[in-house]
Amino acid sequence: MFTINENYLKLQGNYLFSTIAGKVNEYKANNQDADIIRLGIGDVTQPIVPAIIEALHKAVDEMGTEEGFHGYGPEQGYAFLRETIAREDYRARGCEIKADEIFISDGAKCDVGNIQEIFGIDNRVAICDPVYPVYVDTNVMAGRTGAYNSITNGFDHLIYMPCTPMNGFVPELPSVIPDIIYLCFPNNPTGMTITKERLQQWVDYANKNGAVILYDAAYEAYISEKGIPHSIYECEGARTCAIEMHSFSKNAGFTGLRLGYTVIPKELQSNGTSLHSLWNRRHGTKYNGAPYIVQRAGEAVYSEVGKKQLSEQIAYYMKNAKTIREGLTSYGYTVYGGDNAPYIWWKVPNGKKSWQFFDELLEKVQIVGTPGVGFGVNGEGFFRLTAFGTYENTIEALERIKRM
Ligand code: MLT
Repeated sequence: MFTINENYLKLQGNYLFSTIAGKVNEYKANNQDADIIRLGIGDVTQPIVPAIIEALHKAVDEMGTEEGFHGYGPEQGYAFLRETIAREDYRARGCEIKADEIFISDGAKCDVGNIQEIFGIDNRVAICDPVYPVYVDTNVMAGRTGAYNSITNGFDHLIYMPCTPMNGFVPELPSVIPDIIYLCFPNNPTGMTITKERLQQWVDYANKNGAVILYDAAYEAYISEKGIPHSIYECEGARTCAIEMHSFSKNAGFTGLRLGYTVIPKELQSNGTSLHSLWNRRHGTKYNGAPYIVQRAGEAVYSEVGKKQLSEQIAYYMKNAKTIREGLTSYGYTVYGGDNAPYIWWKVPNGKKSWQFFDELLEKVQIVGTPGVGFGVNGEGFFRLTAFGTYENTIEALERIKRM
């Protein structure tokens, strides 16, 4: 008789955003006229910009011609996109990344979830707390947990790094040395950033201790302040210790189109084995490449007109972020983030629990957010709002909160 992967039984409940969607659907079923404002999952609301739509149309038309038809593409992505990314996202920032070190995929979530496959099962994994749940869940699914520890009520191989107001939501270097370190800046869920000096300390720590940093840069397009790194490769020595993941979802609205990429420098090795070769092997075996038309759309993100249209779109979302941040602050609440990221990390008032506050906001004012505890125990007492709603809904949400 077949058996199952018992690691799945160690997972806590459902995936966070599925739980929220379930609760909202249930509420909607019982309150059919409710005008719900969704500021929970970080999904965009603005249409794809014209420069990208034009590139999509052109690529679709090409596919209908003999000379322009594309079947299976290179699993790692088309050269036109990899070269554009290397030039625009890296060389333009003084980072030394070559086109063949970039792997195109159908989104950062898959890469962030799959990358752990190339590491040993006994590796110790350091993760921020609170954290994007995909990092934890995929390691648990793989069995990279070690033994259950009843004293800490956690798994031996998962090292949680608290991110709280006390440390500015930037984790301290752990005293128990991890093998794999997940970092995400600008951060999901707290919306906070890391300075280049602090990130350099992480790079030096990883190089000194033979650890690898998995750097999730999905929100880098929202950085507006100077001195905040857009890429970990801005730090010296990152080529020997860091893998970086990017998304086209948040900077260009591809949550429905799906496109992302992962960078693995060729110097990054474990005992002489190149991680680039391992990921290349995995990609070739398990993946047939992102669709040609979507990769052409991705290329248009970097065209002059595309960049201009997207900077306006990002400014639109950041106006929402400012509206939420300033609105909540003016009502006397404590909030973090939202300056260089599309997330606002709201301290739940009156010592309430995050899920209690979620229910209250949904029932009283029909606003959906994300309970901080869904991202980890240090998220308890916080609540995440996204700036990806429409401006009108954002204003309306603040009015409702004020009334409440
Ligand atoms: C989030 O809301 O945290 C993310 O948008 C979800 C995702 O990107 O998978």
